[in-house]
Amino acid sequence: MLDHVLIWINGRRHEIRGREAFRSLSDYLRRELGFVGTKIVCSEGDCGACTVLVGRVAADGSRLVYRPVDSCIQFLFQLDGTHVVTVEGLGGEADPSPVQQAMIEHHGSQCGYCTPGFVVAMTGLLEERDHLDDTAMRCGLTGNLCRCTGYSPILEAGRLVDVSQHERIEQRFPSNTMIGENERRRRESIEVTAAWDDERHTFISPPDLEAALKAIDAHLQATLVAGATDIGVRINKSLAVPSIILDLNRMEELAEARIENDELVLGARANWTTIADLCRDAIPEFHKIISVFGAPQIRHVGTIGGNIANASPIADSLPFLHVMEAVLELRSVHDAREVNINDFYKGYKKFDLRPGELISRIRVPLPTEEELLKLYKVSRRRDLDIACFTAAIRLRLDGETISRAAIAFGAVGPTVIRARKTEAFLQGREFTEQTMREAGKIAVTEITPISDVRGSAEYRYHLTRNILTKFWYETVTTTAIAGV
Ligand SMILES: Cc1cc2nc3c(=O)[nH]c(=O)nc-3n(C[C@H](O)[C@H](O)[C@H](O)COP(=O)(O)OP(=O)(O)OC[C@H]3O[C@@H](n4cnc5c(N)ncnc54)[C@H](O)[C@@H]3O)c2cc1C
Ligand code: FES
Ligand code: FES
Repeated sequence: MLDHVLIWINGRRHEIRGREAFRSLSDYLRRELGFVGTKIVCSEGDCGACTVLVGRVAADGSRLVYRPVDSCIQFLFQLDGTHVVTVEGLGGEADPSPVQQAMIEHHGSQCGYCTPGFVVAMTGLLEERDHLDDTAMRCGLTGNLCRCTGYSPILEAGRLVDVSQHERIEQRFPSNTMIGENERRRRESIEVTAAWDDERHTFISPPDLEAALKAIDAHLQATLVAGATDIGVRINKSLAVPSIILDLNRMEELAEARIENDELVLGARANWTTIADLCRDAIPEFHKIISVFGAPQIRHVGTIGGNIANASPIADSLPFLHVMEAVLELRSVHDAREVNINDFYKGYKKFDLRPGELISRIRVPLPTEEELLKLYKVSRRRDLDIACFTAAIRLRLDGETISRAAIAFGAVGPTVIRARKTEAFLQGREFTEQTMREAGKIAVTEITPISDVRGSAEYRYHLTRNILTKFWYETVTTTAIAGV
């Protein structure tokens, strides 16, 4: 049993013990190490000013893979065995990196508050490609906000980076020692306890599923933490760290993502970047929805298990998982069971997970060639925004006749809603615009939306009624109607 977390930061080894292990990464970098290039603006993963690169050992153990993440919602207890690279690790005044140099020369910075985040995110993009083009930057920088420069000079700087001078992180910080030491401690559990403000806090980071199930059984009230993109925001807003934390980040079994026997098989800890890559060709509709899920910094760490267990009716993956009849594998030290996701949710944030259980795996049947599948997310902004309305529509056609329908709506009730009456209405009818318009009228009787900051109840009724007609236009004609 280890009593500390081991993290490398800009190539230096840090053993972190006691209360420190419960701090956010951004806090530790700024307050403890003086790496104040990492900025804090929102503290909830929305602005990217705190972006750092986190290197984790690749699945084949050969190298570290670096991804940009928001350090304000990452905690040291999640990061054992990682190498964190901050803007200071990329270059400084005397030796700016080519990305930093381009930002200076092409006026990519004014107040400078967002600049380190952009520099780190661009450097992260250059880990995966050998130049920065507009498409890569427009997708890869959606998690970075700038309030004063405007994005044109930043994109211009990115286009003009002298990539012939760019060093990959592996060149700057060779990873052999880090990988070797990780390998030696990979099978050990970590447990750290600390007390502050008259409260005791413990975190446990088991190395495998078996150890995790035993730990949960021994601490039934433990808070599970995967990517922390939901939990981290909760901790920062409430300033309350759970008293017992069970970190899932070192369990390789839970990170699997593959296609097998016409099913998507996803470990609960599979992150959105991995799932998007897997679905690019296999389920392009799901890939499309994941590509507007948060921003890269969120997708690199946020997991499918976290999205399901956070149980938000506006979670992006849930309508898809409902219409595909996804099966959740739930494990405890005593039992293993399977639950169809349509039977999992019991009310707002209530679900069928028993004390001592975790979600271990999700199995999703792939859509067949005869099926029409469309997924929708309506939000005020395309990127980095929470949905005002989501929908998944899956129809199977037998000639012109609908032989099976599965429809789910999100953000229109306390849970994602399967529109069973609408599905029954569609079954056996001809697939026409008229049928879908009629179906829309039934669908609105199945939802109970409320008005909130993202949209009024009335707007959500309109969206629900019209989305079925939109689906018809999109699947029958080549030209989609504008809006819904
Ligand atoms: C800036 C920002 C943008 C976001 N954008 C989107 C978006 O566009 N769409 C969207 O749907 N969500 C979005 N989210 C929410 C969040 O990113 C997702 O819900 C994500 O999938 C959560 O995964 P996680 O691993 O980070 O969960 P965590 O925060 O680690 O955990 C979330 C919950 O799940 C529980 N949990 C985690 N794993 C398991 C398990 N295996 N078994 C049982 N319980 C478990 C935890 O105890 C916790 O209650 C956003 C969040 C942020 C901060
Ligand atoms: S401070 Fe805004 S994302 Fe971290
Ligand atoms: S330079 Fe001021 S916020 Fe971007």
